[in-house]
Amino acid sequence: VLLGVDIGTSGTKTLAINEKGEILAEATSTYPCAHPKPLWSEQNPEDWWNATVATIRAVVKKAKLKATDVKGIGLSGQMHGSVFLDKKMQVIRPALLWNDQRTAAECDEIESRAGGRKKLIQMVANPALTGFTAPKILWLRNHEPKNFAKLDKVLLPKDDVRRRLTGELATDVSDASGMLLLDVKKRNWSKTLLSKLELDESLLAKCYESEEVTGKLTPEVAKLLGLSTDCVVVGGAGDCAANALGTGVVKTGSLSTSIGTSGIMFVHSDEMQFDPAGRLHTFCHAVHGKWHMMGVSLTGGGALQWFTQQVFHGLFKGKTSPFQQLADEAAQVPYGSEGLFFLPYLAGERTPHADPNARGSFVGLTLKHTRGHLTRSIMEGVTYAMRDSLTIIRDLGVPVNEIRASGGGSKNPLWRQIQADVFGQDVVTINAEQGPAFGVALLAAVGAGFYKNIEEACAATIRVVSKTPQNKKAAAYYDKGFPLYQQLYRSLKKDFE
Ligand code: XUL
Repeated sequence: VLLGVDIGTSGTKTLAINEKGEILAEATSTYPCAHPKPLWSEQNPEDWWNATVATIRAVVKKAKLKATDVKGIGLSGQMHGSVFLDKKMQVIRPALLWNDQRTAAECDEIESRAGGRKKLIQMVANPALTGFTAPKILWLRNHEPKNFAKLDKVLLPKDDVRRRLTGELATDVSDASGMLLLDVKKRNWSKTLLSKLELDESLLAKCYESEEVTGKLTPEVAKLLGLSTDCVVVGGAGDCAANALGTGVVKTGSLSTSIGTSGIMFVHSDEMQFDPAGRLHTFCHAVHGKWHMMGVSLTGGGALQWFTQQVFHGLFKGKTSPFQQLADEAAQVPYGSEGLFFLPYLAGERTPHADPNARGSFVGLTLKHTRGHLTRSIMEGVTYAMRDSLTIIRDLGVPVNEIRASGGGSKNPLWRQIQADVFGQDVVTINAEQGPAFGVALLAAVGAGFYKNIEEACAATIRVVSKTPQNKKAAAYYDKGFPLYQQLYRSLKKDFE
């Protein structure tokens, strides 16, 4: 038995699988996210630990596991968060999260210390973005010098949980890439950038490949969890790379779309390639010695969730869920929503605009438009935003032979069809819809010796179960609609500021 633990933003999910990839049990525990000031987003690392302990204990109980049954644990989690620790390994202040936007000035500082944006991208493959970890460390130095003086280590969310499980200070290359301190090509810390930022390498944990064993459970923790001290903990992965593993995106030509709160386009790459303009992220993949490129639309399914909750809350009392009702209405509307466009930038946008000021908008409303049109245009707008990322991927010459849809957005047949038509390529879905926790449980299966590598583990456990072919007429329509969609942001950009 292997466990996968995913320390997400809304909660922690733990999954127990056998080595064939069959699900034995799962458990989730939620926690709050604090926004003490506009643009701030923080969590308490203690909450992650408590949720990890609770969910591991719950799956052990549900699947009736003996201590020696569990051979390995894989950790996944929200990327980019900063756990600030002092010499005694005590948390200094709440962790700043991936969606915290307070570090714009520190991003400028990093670019200028690096000798410009181009030089920075050469060092760490990516430009400075407010969500990344390095700007958070500089923010602590600039704004809370007393806290900075106490700082001994900076860990990513899942790696702080690892510290408490095993006593080891370790990270994996995929998650480490999102700190903006990793030489992504060499898969180790960038001494050059660290020295330009006047940060000491000793602040950082040791970097492992994702399937490598980083330690074993301490005796106290093994007892607390009902597990054995022989249980290994592997490097694991940031949640995006972990989700890609869980979707079987582990070879050239393979791309996954994930529509959850956000919308993510993730493509595997055998070589390290990067976007010279810095719009896409280039990170190490959780596949040994491989890379990936990724575009993140900050609002994906979150737009539909917002629409359902804020605009139509309590309106539908029938047996179907409000979301289902809206999706059924949207399915009656022709492709293109009869001229209605939606820009999904409800939380600003990361790829391709890197613009915290971008805003959501409906454009082109007429008296003719119904609730179904509004819903459909939201799905289309989110998918157009993801096509922005896909277009950059294709333009860089990265092959995309197969698109695997995952996340909530892949469950609705209309949204799958919209994806196939907006992307102009067939879309498939796979059996194991368990996301990042499943991906890192497979890494644990490799680390514990059940498989030679992650490619073999994915091939043994993941298969394609459905295919949504593109409708050529709709695809041709969206080809014409896409430049209009792109033009809308350019036209409105000034007014958003
Ligand atoms: C990835 C990113 C988010 C977080 C939250 O770059 O910021 O997907 O990992 O889950």
